[in-house]
Amino acid sequence: MKPTSAPQTYRVKSFGCQMNVYDGERMAELLGERGIQPAPEGEEADLVILNTCHIREKAAEKVYSDIGRLVAAGKENGKAPLIAVAGCVAQAEGEEIMARAPAVSIVVGPQAYHRLPDMLDKAEKGERATDTDMPAIAKFDALPARKKRGPSAFLTVQEGCDKFCTYCVVPYTRGAEISRPFSHLVDEARKLVEAGAKEITLLGQNVNAWSGDDDKGRRVGLGGLIRTLAQIDGLERIRYTTSHPNDMDDDLIAAHGEVAKLMPYLHLPVQAGNDRILKAMNRQHTAESYLRLIEKFRAARPDIALSGDFIVGFPGETEAEFQDTLNIVDDVRYAACFSFKYSPRPGTPAATMEHQIAPEVMAERLQRLQARIAHHQYAFNQASVGKACTVLVERTGRHPGQWLGKSPWLQSVWFEGEAAIGDLVEVTLAAGGPNSLEGQVRAKLSA
Ligand code: SAH
Ligand code: SF4
Ligand code: F3S
Repeated sequence: MKPTSAPQTYRVKSFGCQMNVYDGERMAELLGERGIQPAPEGEEADLVILNTCHIREKAAEKVYSDIGRLVAAGKENGKAPLIAVAGCVAQAEGEEIMARAPAVSIVVGPQAYHRLPDMLDKAEKGERATDTDMPAIAKFDALPARKKRGPSAFLTVQEGCDKFCTYCVVPYTRGAEISRPFSHLVDEARKLVEAGAKEITLLGQNVNAWSGDDDKGRRVGLGGLIRTLAQIDGLERIRYTTSHPNDMDDDLIAAHGEVAKLMPYLHLPVQAGNDRILKAMNRQHTAESYLRLIEKFRAARPDIALSGDFIVGFPGETEAEFQDTLNIVDDVRYAACFSFKYSPRPGTPAATMEHQIAPEVMAERLQRLQARIAHHQYAFNQASVGKACTVLVERTGRHPGQWLGKSPWLQSVWFEGEAAIGDLVEVTLAAGGPNSLEGQVRAKLSA
């Protein structure tokens, strides 16, 4: 069943990283320009965009099962939705998707989605359209202005990756590293703040590789960009993610001690604690150099909270090498972490390495790692009790008068009292659980 008329409503389903969330928002804004509305909760949309992630196995399978579900729902209510597949699976497997899934009308890669309107014109005529070009920066110039969203907004400043860690698909799905121009970013940040954002998280696959020429023509890195953004009135908090240890420079570290709006939080993945494994991963840093870098951050900003990503069961990883991963978790005492079983990705060097680790060994290591991570997360939350801090209110809690938001250290905090979404409320952290804390209101700072 082919869609016959122009879609009136859309739904964008984003999987994967925060950059996909950002891309999903920007695609939604493009559809809004075309007069297409978000589908009401619980109703089928005329146009569904599956904004996919390719980072681990089963991602592609998930896309096909989602497509199957959409086709079945369309049959049931007599109206097939127009289906578009976007994101990193579209980039990596666009042709296969078109061949395997006749219900898909559009395949669009992460660097080409500004061309969605043309592709929709085609699709509305019953033709199929694929675009997985990588025209780098052109995308951002072609997108409409930012629209109002919640108090916390994402802003992509850098895309792509030249690091080629041996397990990772991102360099293939997102292309080479590019930095968006300084002035465009300052403009977009201003627009986000005008639209109600209090907090901006700067995004990049290697966000700290960003560089550009500032308004005086000086070459600056991410620290320089952050110093400029901090001057925007109404912007209260700045964050950035994800950083690579090798792209860290002293100015960014110093900014953590000097820019009050830059939150005391750093997501700095290390992946593993053993140097032989780090080398096989092509990480180009050692456990020791990573720990030294963290010491520099702690010297600049003693209360900085650290988070990381870990992979267990990389090909050839021995029990002793895995122990080094547990050790680095103990050394750093992370406030939060993401941890994954190694997943062989087609086309990456690690996928064909010898000594792939058995799934049950990976599962058991992951369990031990996550227990260790949970221990430190809980300890971090416990150590926060008694501290005064601000909470940026993001949503209402389960009960009337209850509010949920984030501390400067990215902890979830709930409190009771007078507030509104977007308020910065000063609280004392009164009790800490494994995943959230309770705050007692001291004062409301801004509305
Ligand atoms: N650019 C960031 C994050 C990239 S993807 C960085 O370099 O740190 C997010 C996380 O997914 C990675 O940090 C890694 O921990 C995990 N990941 C990437 N490829 C993976 C794979 N093949 N198997 C399991 N986890 C993977
Ligand atoms: Fe992937 Fe490594 Fe690039 Fe991160 S730095 S996106 S893990 S290749
Ligand atoms: Fe996934 Fe692509 Fe992000 S593979 S993690 S959506 S860059």
